[in-house]
Amino acid sequence: MDKFIIHGGRNLQGVVSVSGAKNASLALMPATILAGGTYKLENTPRLRDVMTMMSLLESMGIAFKFVDNSLTVDSSNITNYEAPYEHVKKMRASIYVLGPLVSRFGFARVSLPGGCAWGPRPVNLHIEGLKKLGADIQLEGGYIVAKARKLKGARILFDISSVGATGNILMAASLAQGATIIENAAMEPEIAALAELLVKMGAHIDGIGTSRIEIEGVGALHPADVTTIPDRIEAGTMLIAAAIAGKPGSKVRIDRCNPKHFGAVTSKLEDAGANLTIGKDFVELEPPNEIRPVNVTTAIYSGFPTDTQAQWIALMSLAKGTSVITDTVYFDRFTHVPELMRLGANITLKENVATVIGQETLTGAKVMSTDLRASASLILAGLAAEGTTEVLRVYHIDRGYEEVEKKLQRLGADIERVAGEEF
Ligand code: UD1
Repeated sequence: MDKFIIHGGRNLQGVVSVSGAKNASLALMPATILAGGTYKLENTPRLRDVMTMMSLLESMGIAFKFVDNSLTVDSSNITNYEAPYEHVKKMRASIYVLGPLVSRFGFARVSLPGGCAWGPRPVNLHIEGLKKLGADIQLEGGYIVAKARKLKGARILFDISSVGATGNILMAASLAQGATIIENAAMEPEIAALAELLVKMGAHIDGIGTSRIEIEGVGALHPADVTTIPDRIEAGTMLIAAAIAGKPGSKVRIDRCNPKHFGAVTSKLEDAGANLTIGKDFVELEPPNEIRPVNVTTAIYSGFPTDTQAQWIALMSLAKGTSVITDTVYFDRFTHVPELMRLGANITLKENVATVIGQETLTGAKVMSTDLRASASLILAGLAAEGTTEVLRVYHIDRGYEEVEKKLQRLGADIERVAGEEF
């Protein structure tokens, strides 16, 4: 297992480019199940989660060629309709194969995901949605077994806006008979990106990017090529890195991003005292002289993303005053809090509300990363801390950030990956 060694206190400045969005790729790749043939998914990030999705789809008969960030997918020979526990337990997004498999082949056997590092994450909405489309679904030995002759369009109202369930139903409904309406659909850009690929494949979809999506099922879809949208969470993470570690007067430019996708984060950064220049596909940030405390409550898109909550708490650990950070999407997503406290942060956690009393300094220590965004938070804190921080178990960060240490090094950070030891 690798670890990062960070010597804190270095200034950050320069330009860094954002990679393709992990959460978009994880939806686009299984969409290729819906029509046999060859697809080109440009700007696909080389991440552990993408590799996990590749190996799951390979086990079904799909072939891949990955050259730089261009992923060629050949889904002509799908012979196996199962997502085994070994894959799903590594990555919940494996559930995305359920909708396309049952819709195209009338059968799917997909392991239930179980818990994750920060609590139970149910899939009831995926199951209820597919049942509404007419699938017969049984739970057998930890597996969802779904069968259908032909799915039929239906009106589906989600109690909770779910990214994954919206994606699954979108894919399934594209090949269903008749019209489907999804109410309280997820509006996240990654779901819009999936819908746009489906349209290129011949699907009839209205209301893309809104909370009411209408799909008129078609008899067959065909392959298409697409360029993956930039990763808004990576962009936000890099901006927060610049705000926490950059010295006043310096400038960091985040390139090849879509600032419209992370307006909630740039707006909070301005509240915290950073000076931002926002272009069409870039953001420049000059760090605040003094970080102001700013409360944040996570919400579905276009609110402040839960995937940026941990990084925000790191920033607020060094604010001049007290801030309150509430996660309304995932109530127990706070495994970074005790680790940040090992670096000297002053945080009180009560249920899903973290109260952060900003400190003058953080001090380097050994910390353990427990999930993807928690790792990002610890790295940001390490960049700003005095002395040396070791972030152990960085395989979590490799799930969702492409070459994070190289990008940070390019900005001037002193961060090094140490490989191959047991930590
Ligand atoms: C996706 C993202 C993840 C992000 C999350 C919220 C991917 C691959 N992952 O995860 O990075 O943190 O959106 O923005 O895109 N829920 C249910 N029942 C369900 C499904 C979800 O109760 O069947 C609840 C969840 O517990 C959670 C909320 O709905 O409280 C939102 O979860 P959801 O949007 O489904 O998250 P994911 O798609 O798993």
